[in-house]
Amino acid sequence: MISLRAANLSHCYQGRLVLQEVNLEIGAGESFAIVGHNGAGKSTLLRLLAFLERPSAGEVVAFANGAPTPADLALRRRVVMVMQRPFLFNTSVLANVAYGPRVRGASRREARERAHRALDMVGISALAEQPARTLSGGEAQLVNLARALAVEPEVLLLDEVTSHLDPDNEARAEEVVANLTASGRVTVIVVTQDVDQAARLAARGALLSRGRVEAVGPLLHLVARGGR
Ligand SMILES: Nc1ncnc2c1ncn2[C@@H]1O[C@H](COP(=O)(O)OP(=O)(O)OP(=O)(O)O)[C@@H](O)[C@H]1O
Ligand SMILES: [Mg+2]
Repeated sequence: MISLRAANLSHCYQGRLVLQEVNLEIGAGESFAIVGHNGAGKSTLLRLLAFLERPSAGEVVAFANGAPTPADLALRRRVVMVMQRPFLFNTSVLANVAYGPRVRGASRREARERAHRALDMVGISALAEQPARTLSGGEAQLVNLARALAVEPEVLLLDEVTSHLDPDNEARAEEVVANLTASGRVTVIVVTQDVDQAARLAARGALLSRGRVEAVGPLLHLVARGGR
């Protein structure tokens, strides 16, 4: 079980400070939401928490079963971020979804089985053989999510993963995430523009405003502060 601590995180792009002294603790098995306006720094914070970028200042510390652990390749393979804009390989949907398990050492067969299970979870088994570049926007977003699920991560970071989904698919994706949370085995961090969704998926969260954590705590409290 992995927990994360963001300690005094600041981040600059071309000399512009987009995150300022962010401090957060996300418990092992917790489901945590990050909300805020466009450009508030949500995706940047998520990339830092996923160890995809190094902060300009401060640090992200991961704890495995309570003990600090280095962010080496082994750890980073247990942490998966689903990007806001799907980036899929120019292969079949199945090959895209099987890729993650395969690079993490699963046999070809095991990787394909996991990919089929993940596609089934998000309700898109019928798309398995379709070339990924021909998918609609919503379908690509579902494949993006299935890709992460196939890896069976211990920390799952989701960046607005339902923004192109119709209500039925959104409900299904939320159910998948809620089931992971209910299992208690996965630490889930969701970024969303939708405070209602944040409240459905997480009990606690942070409101980010211009790169700063304006409030952190129970979602109801954040909603009351006018977060969106
Ligand atoms: N690679 C980059 N180079 C320069 N500026 C960047 C880069 N990535 C992000 N930014 C800037 O940092 C700020 C925060 O961006 P970020 O993507 O984290 O916002 P966000 O809260 O996720 O917004 P949205 O709700 O629109 O997705 C924005 O002003 C953005 O223009
Ligand atoms: Mg974003």
